[in-house]
Amino acid sequence: MTTRELLAEELTTARHRTLRLVDFDDAEVRRQYDPLMSPLVWDLAHIGQQEELWLLRGGNPDRPGMLTRQVDQLYDAFVHSRASRVDLPLLPPADARAYCATVRNKVLDALDALPDDHPEAFTFGMVASHENQHDETMLQALNLRSGAPLLDRGAALPAGRPGLAGTWVEVPAGEFVLGVDPAAEPFSLDNERPAHTVDVPAFRIGRVPVTNGEWQQFIDDGGYDERRWWTDAGWAHRQQAGVIAPQFWNTGTLAGTRTRFGHIEDIPADEPVQHVDFHEAQAYAAWAGARLPTEIEWEKACAWDPEVGRRRRYPWGSDTPSAERVNLGGDALRPAPVGAYPGGASAYGAEQMLGDVWEWTTSTLRPWPGFAPMVYEQYSSPFFDGITSGDYRVLRGGSWAVAPGILRPSFRNWDHPIRRQIFSGVRLAWDV
Ligand code: AVJ
Ligand code: FE
Repeated sequence: MTTRELLAEELTTARHRTLRLVDFDDAEVRRQYDPLMSPLVWDLAHIGQQEELWLLRGGNPDRPGMLTRQVDQLYDAFVHSRASRVDLPLLPPADARAYCATVRNKVLDALDALPDDHPEAFTFGMVASHENQHDETMLQALNLRSGAPLLDRGAALPAGRPGLAGTWVEVPAGEFVLGVDPAAEPFSLDNERPAHTVDVPAFRIGRVPVTNGEWQQFIDDGGYDERRWWTDAGWAHRQQAGVIAPQFWNTGTLAGTRTRFGHIEDIPADEPVQHVDFHEAQAYAAWAGARLPTEIEWEKACAWDPEVGRRRRYPWGSDTPSAERVNLGGDALRPAPVGAYPGGASAYGAEQMLGDVWEWTTSTLRPWPGFAPMVYEQYSSPFFDGITSGDYRVLRGGSWAVAPGILRPSFRNWDHPIRRQIFSGVRLAWDV
């Protein structure tokens, strides 16, 4: 397949996914399910607006596009908070769909006309990544929605293997190559670059993510009420927000169940815990006699092959992600039980590093040495530690909702430490 064909396929797959996530009546897609999320129709038009900006307007907002200046500006994420978007004079759903389709037709023509090895190919990949990231955001919104379910319970997943929860693998001390270069990963985003050597002391890391069953033990042991497991900031938030269990875990007569995309179901003990914030993750780790990994440790455990002294493209090697190795793409609507993917293990034996749940790390978002912003200059740098008053922690590995085409071991996500509507979980680490 040529790069052009690959990019056209990525864009088309993303669009099918987007359109399925907004395939509801007008009132539905205009609804605000939660102040943390945009109405679905905002995400839809924003996907088109960003695609037009980066691929048809050369990234220059002063260059006229298909929308008026005023309408275009409604979809600037830096101008309008998520909470306020429902009150904006947004494009009606039919207009938003038509706008996205018109942009896409022009973009596919531009892609067809793109010369081989043209640097603009990167921007098409970036736009496919952007759309897929918003698809995950829309899934977060749909999960927060109240009322009878719109989505079914999700596609079947492989069974887990017993005996893995709470176990670890050891990563000996030594140098490895952190980050990637465009030569190896042409569609890596700016914050993943450049590749550079770092020395990492020995550590242990969870062989699999922390499970619901393990989390229940933390609750049963009074973990949410014991000040000593929590940091000052964590305890303050736990008290103020009344955090007593992962989000979507039910209480009272529904104890032992969770609500997922509107379905009430028993909490599966062997599934990675989901919907915990950074502070909860940190408290759980303290209770378990462990800590969270740094993102550098995480990437080494995921990608480094110590036998050959090189990075692997994926934890398991170079085969493209498949349903036998990893839970990605969004159809499952939930993480797979631990042990479901022995064929997805990294060189060190860590499993389910990609897919299932985003894993909190202790790291704030920082540029790798030699960082250079990509064409979308505001993608990463406004969120770097010290640049804003914003408080962000890095999450790694992607969730079940991430598209396989955009995920790499080097992919970095970030969010506020109090957020947990995201598909976030935990993998423990220990000093050696
Ligand atoms: C990388 C997921 C934190 O959603 O804020 C989407 C991705 N940036 N549009 C976000 C993003 C601009 C970003 N995260
Ligand atoms: Fe965006």
